[in-house]
Amino acid sequence: MTKLNYWTSSWHLDEAQCPCDIHFLDYLEVKAIKGADIFHMGTGSHHIIGLKTASNGFGNQVLGITASKEEYQTYIDLLIDNPRLGFTYKVYFGDIYQIDHRLMPALDHVTLFHCGEYRTAENDKYGALTDTQMALVLADCLKPGGEMHFYTGSFAYDKAQQAGAALIAERGFSDAGIFKSLHTFKKSG
Ligand SMILES: C[S@@+](CC[C@H](N)C(=O)[O-])C[C@H]1O[C@@H](n2cnc3c(N)ncnc32)[C@H](O)[C@@H]1O
Repeated sequence: MTKLNYWTSSWHLDEAQCPCDIHFLDYLEVKAIKGADIFHMGTGSHHIIGLKTASNGFGNQVLGITASKEEYQTYIDLLIDNPRLGFTYKVYFGDIYQIDHRLMPALDHVTLFHCGEYRTAENDKYGALTDTQMALVLADCLKPGGEMHFYTGSFAYDKAQQAGAALIAERGFSDAGIFKSLHTFKKSG
């Protein structure tokens, strides 16, 4: 029987090994980004992006996706104990390679820090999108001037770079450069 290619692990915050979420929070702060609609791939069990944006007064809101049952359960527990969190931080469990534009809000920022890290032939068995197709769907969800962020420290950064090249070639994005460990591409407009 074909099964969803979900993540059978759970990730605790480890800034030394994987600083991308913290660097994205730094990016939001340094650029003074307020009131933005953010789609975040890979919440971790720490949910630091959703928790920080809910409490720092910048008014950003986050829709996160996790492919980990354990990480999703930690969100459920957090939300039950902190009901106000649900106004600005929502998480769903699923495979990002099934993303569908019709079900998505208009976005200002998309984080694809783990683009290419976990997509395998298992995803092909149920017709999942490729890395680049998934990035292009999310590119089309971005508002004019919106940004997509990749993680240069990813072990699959080569896949992220391919997706970035497609954003430029097929959607007219520009390369907005590097901030700490993040590589940003900007939609025109
Ligand atoms: C190594 S963890 C990193 C979590 C967090 N971004 C951090 O850096 O601390 C990888 C994350 O990618 C998510 N993930 C893996 N495959 C995914 C998929 N197909 N769709 C959505 N999320 C996925 C996992 O659920 C997990 O949250």
